[in-house]
Amino acid sequence: MGYKVGICQFKPEFLQKEKNLEKMGDLLRNVTADLIVLPELASSGYIFNLKEEVKSISENPQNGPTAVAFKKLAKQNNTSYVVGIAEKSNEYIYNSAILINPDGSVQLYRKTHLFFEEKKWFKAGDTGFNVFNAKNNIKIGIMICFDWIFPESARSLALAGAQIIAHPTNLVLPWGQQAMLTRSLENGVFSLTSNRTGREKNGDKQLNFTGMSQVVNTKGQIIHRMDQTEESVFVTEIDPLVAEDKSVTEFNDLLSDRRTEMYKL
Ligand code: ACM
Repeated sequence: MGYKVGICQFKPEFLQKEKNLEKMGDLLRNVTADLIVLPELASSGYIFNLKEEVKSISENPQNGPTAVAFKKLAKQNNTSYVVGIAEKSNEYIYNSAILINPDGSVQLYRKTHLFFEEKKWFKAGDTGFNVFNAKNNIKIGIMICFDWIFPESARSLALAGAQIIAHPTNLVLPWGQQAMLTRSLENGVFSLTSNRTGREKNGDKQLNFTGMSQVVNTKGQIIHRMDQTEESVFVTEIDPLVAEDKSVTEFNDLLSDRRTEMYKL
């Protein structure tokens, strides 16, 4: 079964939500795909210095500016999108990602493992690792950036039935992209890591984001990896049903061979 999946790498401008939404709209306007993943905190930028900054760009996952823009795009292009936002809930702000389907429905994941100073700005996620239906009922799981370093994240999604892991990122450490090859291999799932690029500066803090967004198959092979700086969209056709086959040899299976009674977790 052919299913067109994509990644979108670009450089968001810090706190410039309208501009960032416009840029994503321009990049995606004429792209035909079934599912496209965008970076973590794609509409806001990343390096915060003040709680007020985070608050000022936080938004409702159902009807905030990012959700509204992507609902429109999802309907126009008949595409599912996963995009990172700073999510305003009643009491807290979460580093979240939303899945927006062509029918206008929205699903939410709140980042479980916060990285570095994110702990100053965001509440640790409480949604857990759930699997959602994207376009054509393809099963996708969402994890955000630093969730990669905890193998339990991708494993939980695979156990819940994910065929594709959507992985919005703002990667700064040099190991995330390479580690995701193993996450795909050990779980027999496709992964779409959509990273941002560019340098961001706020006061005396600055970070270089590593780009190299990638599409990885169920054997941990890179179908496509972008370079560190390009701003572009890449789409390729995969067969998500391949992820239903967890066999390694005729005697081995990634999930049913697990010896949970032997693990101290
Ligand atoms: C990260 O989790 N944004 C590195």
